[in-house]
Amino acid sequence: MAGRLEGKAAFITGGASGLGRAMAQAFAAEGASVAIADIDRGRGEAVARGIGARAIFLAHDVTDEEQWVANLAAAASAFGRLDTLVNNAGIGTRGTVESTSLEEWRRIHAVNLDGPFLGCKHAIPLIAKAGGGAILNISSVAGLIGARDSAAYCSSKGGLRLLTKSVAMHCAHRKNGVRCNSVHPVYTDTPMVGQMLAESRQPEKMLEAMKAMIPLGRLGTPEELAAMAVYLVSDEAAFVTGAEFVFDGGYTAN
Ligand SMILES: NC(=O)c1ccc[n+]([C@@H]2O[C@H](COP(=O)([O-])OP(=O)(O)OC[C@H]3O[C@@H](n4cnc5c(N)ncnc54)[C@H](O)[C@@H]3O)[C@@H](O)[C@H]2O)c1
Repeated sequence: MAGRLEGKAAFITGGASGLGRAMAQAFAAEGASVAIADIDRGRGEAVARGIGARAIFLAHDVTDEEQWVANLAAAASAFGRLDTLVNNAGIGTRGTVESTSLEEWRRIHAVNLDGPFLGCKHAIPLIAKAGGGAILNISSVAGLIGARDSAAYCSSKGGLRLLTKSVAMHCAHRKNGVRCNSVHPVYTDTPMVGQMLAESRQPEKMLEAMKAMIPLGRLGTPEELAAMAVYLVSDEAAFVTGAEFVFDGGYTAN
């Protein structure tokens, strides 16, 4: 039986770790070819090797426009087409509007917002050439509601939410078959959250506080997020564009 992404080719930024790795594995299990695009060569190559012949690793910094042009072309050439871009690479930071330096603000926006902008800009023509497909932007619940101590992160993820809708409207207007949606996860069990806990003075207490914030009482898993992503980039979601999907155990329903 054909997989749900049989014959499709996807480019996943931040594919070496956490959510990106889970999406790469899930897409490949559903029949897609995947380009794992990441600054972390060691872990990225290991993920590609684990997936096998359907996966390639590309050394890729999402803040670099020349790398976007070259690596998207490399993926399209390796797979003969490009159907899907997942703008997943992202970095976190702590800081209120008053404590965040301009340098830190720009560093966060360069990865979390400039990166997806460049990805959408340069992937749209390639995906349109393949007859249409999907862009998925991994935002955050912090792109929907404000967190006191995450000014730059909230701003970058909120910007990504509306970049998504602008891209969706542009592509609908162009009738090029490209859909674009955003996903908004709450705390999910990845190295990013592991690092937050490691940096905390009381990791166990912090983990309990994270769980207590989430009505379902636990963190999300990367595999659960990947299941949502498979649907959104598949043809099953052909009528879904410009939409935002919370992945949050009920957090924003409260
Ligand atoms: N884990 C969570 O709880 C959570 C919650 C909400 C949103 N998110 C978002 O999900 C996405 C993935 O997060 P994760 O938890 O898997 O993080 P992670 O730290 O496990 O993985 C992020 C990956 O991005 C790569 N990366 C960082 N900067 C890059 C750059 N400039 N160019 C290319 N790759 C780069 C890293 O090398 C790493 O492999 C991020 O955008 C994050 O903001 C995560």
